[in-house]
Amino acid sequence: MNTPTQLAETKTPEERPIKRHHTPRYYAQRVKDSLTTRVSKLICAVFLGLLFIVGIITFILWLSLRPHRPRFFIHHFSVLGLGLDNGYKNPEIVFNVTARNSNLNIGIYYDSMVGSVYYKNQKIGSTPLLDEYYEGPKTTKVLTAALSGETLNVDRHRWMEFSKERSKGAVGFRLEISSTIRFRISAWNSKRHGMHANCDVSVGRDGLILPSSKDVRCPVYFS
Ligand SMILES: *[C@@H]1O[C@H](CO)[C@@H](O)[C@H](O)[C@H]1NC(C)=O
Repeated sequence: MNTPTQLAETKTPEERPIKRHHTPRYYAQRVKDSLTTRVSKLICAVFLGLLFIVGIITFILWLSLRPHRPRFFIHHFSVLGLGLDNGYKNPEIVFNVTARNSNLNIGIYYDSMVGSVYYKNQKIGSTPLLDEYYEGPKTTKVLTAALSGETLNVDRHRWMEFSKERSKGAVGFRLEISSTIRFRISAWNSKRHGMHANCDVSVGRDGLILPSSKDVRCPVYFS
């Protein structure tokens, strides 16, 4: 092997006229330079690799810790006595909705919750569904209510509108569930979000929810 020292001993500048400016010191410097470049390249690669791994871990943590809004499904909805001409004298609407907290580690606090029924975008009834309530991770809360008397405002005129639509096969309503929620992540509580679930629901001639509306997920939005 030719070390820079050996080069200096065996080859004089006269024997290598083309490279006569390259002194042993020059080669030593070149070896040192390339070593420095390699080391700095390695440090760079290690640093970028670490950054990449930290980025991936952060992304996975974010995916698994990010709160999902509760999922609402409508299972049952019926307008009692829809086929009767004088049904408006004693109207009643009953429904069954579930609220699912699908988060693995995040709980949901609900402030009081209200269910309202709309017909052609006009509110015809409203009832409280829950007082303050904490829903743990991976649990489902059943929300059922009956609207009648004071909580349901249907007069003869509106009942006739129902009957007219019913004669065509189905009557459409909208059930809106409103609350204010906070997410609980271990000991930390998020700020409050106004929350609304909107269930579009159609009932058939018998006043019962149509299969096309049954067990359907209701879109949820925050306000
Ligand atoms: C409401 O619907 C859910 C899901 O179908 C069911 O498990 C529950 O028993 C129903 N509750 C009532 C009171 O009808």
